[in-house]
Amino acid sequence: MSAAPGAAGPASGAARDLVDAAAVAAWLRAYAAAVAERRDELTELDAAIGDADHGVNMDRGMRAVVARLAAAGGEGPAQEGPHGGGPDEAATPPPLGPLLKTAGMTLVSTVGGAAGPLYGTFFLEMGKAAGERTALTATEWAEAVAAGVAGVQMRGRAETGDKTMVDALLPAAVALGAAAARGSAPAAATREAARVAAEGMRATIPLVARKGRASYLGQRSAGHQDPGATSSWLLLEAAARALEACGAAHAPQDEPMPAADDPV
Ligand SMILES: Nc1ncnc2c1ncn2[C@@H]1O[C@H](COP(=O)(O)OP(=O)(O)OP(=O)(O)O)[C@@H](O)[C@H]1O
Ligand SMILES: [Mg+2]
Repeated sequence: MSAAPGAAGPASGAARDLVDAAAVAAWLRAYAAAVAERRDELTELDAAIGDADHGVNMDRGMRAVVARLAAAGGEGPAQEGPHGGGPDEAATPPPLGPLLKTAGMTLVSTVGGAAGPLYGTFFLEMGKAAGERTALTATEWAEAVAAGVAGVQMRGRAETGDKTMVDALLPAAVALGAAAARGSAPAAATREAARVAAEGMRATIPLVARKGRASYLGQRSAGHQDPGATSSWLLLEAAARALEACGAAHAPQDEPMPAADDPV
């Protein structure tokens, strides 16, 4: 799993064994797009057991994240250099920690509800775990996601079964780590995590909320899907899509990008 992009590697393709800043930026943009597309759906879920602001909150936050990315030119190493690029103008790959921390800080500062600080903490803790590394193996990627989920739990004190985003995030992080340990590439491992997140999301429907605003409803919260678990499934789904589209890591600039439809 530690082969450099472009080096001879496993059958899945060594370039797809790493998650770099371009892949993370693609993930953040994909998540922003998914949240924007489903903003009303998320808000309707929150109208049933909360205060009808989850879609609006997350859309505002992720729009701000994408704006910060664009302002920082944070497109990662696949972006051409200022003079039009080419092999002689290879950019230094940006570290992942600062990119993720910027996303986290932006969510904390732009989203007032419970979900902003919780998702903000997710990205901040992921950023701490990634540190100055410019690319993560599947195992390191899984560890960073697990650190993000641990941050959400530390901040919100929710366990699985409390009918929160943790019901989607925690089993997804466990599945991601298990898939990485079995040798899956980041995209395939994340696809499995997204599938498990969807199960966790659906499993919130019969639950009685024990955390957050929905807990004020007591038994009346049962029978509704948790909005935060739904946005967390979208987070994993966006990651799977972004990694599948990127091939998980971009080849060095003097090598062609892997075709998007290459088998992972
Ligand atoms: N303690 C918690 N731990 C984890 N997730 C939580 C917690 N409290 C709430 N959530 C998640 O946040 C989601 C609601 O997010 P939303 O953006 O609507 O914030 P909010 O509860 O309306 O915040 P506020 O009441 O401050 O406006 C819930 O569906 C749930 O998944
Ligand atoms: Mg709300």
